[in-house]
Amino acid sequence: MSLAFFKGRFIPLEEATVSIAAHALNYGTGCFEGIRGYYNADHNTLYVIKLQEHFERFMRSCRIMRIDPGYSVGELCDATLHILKENATPSDVYIRPLAFKADPVIKVTLDGIGDATGIFTVPLGDYLPTNGIHVMVSAWRRVEDNAIPTRAKITGSYVNTALAVADAHLGGFDDAIFLSEDGHVAEGSAANLFLVRDGVLVTTPGTENILEGITRNAVMQLAADLEIATQVRTIDRTELYVADELFLVGTGVQVAPISRIDHRTVGVGGVGPVTSQLQNRYFEATRGMLPRYRNWLTAVEY
Ligand SMILES: Cc1ncc(COP(=O)(O)O)c(C=O)c1O
Repeated sequence: MSLAFFKGRFIPLEEATVSIAAHALNYGTGCFEGIRGYYNADHNTLYVIKLQEHFERFMRSCRIMRIDPGYSVGELCDATLHILKENATPSDVYIRPLAFKADPVIKVTLDGIGDATGIFTVPLGDYLPTNGIHVMVSAWRRVEDNAIPTRAKITGSYVNTALAVADAHLGGFDDAIFLSEDGHVAEGSAANLFLVRDGVLVTTPGTENILEGITRNAVMQLAADLEIATQVRTIDRTELYVADELFLVGTGVQVAPISRIDHRTVGVGGVGPVTSQLQNRYFEATRGMLPRYRNWLTAVEY
C-alpha cells in the first residue's frame, strides 16, 4: 500500500481518485511538479532534492493558472515528508504533487471552479539512459509562452511533449529536442538542454519557451564551482550538430548525455569530458556524498 495525500487527508493511493467529470481531466487545467528522492543505502536515508524550490515553482504555476493549492510551501513539504517516511521505499523515488480544477464543470474557464491538491510517490530509476542517447529535432514546435505558459508546469501542455516523444520513439530515437516557433532551440521534451563549444557551457534563456528548470540551476552551480564558463543565450538548430558535447538535464532525465542527434555523432562520440564531470558531480551531490551541496537535500531517515 502506498500512502498519498489527497484533499487534506493521508489515504491509500488507490483511493485518491477523481470523477470523469473533473474539469482538469477534461481540459488539462492542472499544475504539477516532479521531485526526486535518491536512496543512499549506506545512510539508510532518502535524499529529496530541492524540495522547497519545487514547491515554490508549484506555487508560481498555480498562480498563473489561478489555482489555489490550499496549503503553504511549508505544509506541502511536510505532507511530502510524511508520505515518504510512511512509505519508506528503499529505492529512488519520484514525487508528484498535483493541484487542479476538480469540480465537474462544463465550462472552459479558470474561475468559480473548486480546486484539489494531491501528492503521491512512485519508485523510479533512470527515466532515460545516462550513457548516451540518440535524439531528434522534433517537427513539433515547443508551445509558446503566450499560448500555454511554459514557465508553469501545466498538465495540459504535456500534450506537446507527448506528441514529440511519441514521434521520436516511433522513429527509433530516445527523445526529442523542441525548437520554438522562431526556429531557435527551446529545450528537450521534458528537460532543459546544454551544449559545450570550445569549453564553454551554453544553455537557452528562460525567455525561450522553456520550463525554468531546477536541475538547470543546479548544473550551472556545479559548473561555476568547477570554473567552467557558462553562457545563457539563444541557440541555433545547427549549433546542435557542431557542438562538442550535448546533454539534457531535468529531475526525470537527471544528466543525460546525447551521443547522437539526427543521425550525426555529437563531438567525437561517447560522453564528453565536461558532461561526464558534471554528471558525476550531480550524482554524488544528489546521493548526499558532497557536503558542499547538502543544502540541496532534505534527508528522510528510515
Ligand atoms: C518541459 C520541461 N522542461 C524542463 C524540465 C526540467 O525541470 P527540472 O529540472 O526542474 O525538473 C522539465 C521537468 O522535469 C520539463 O517538464
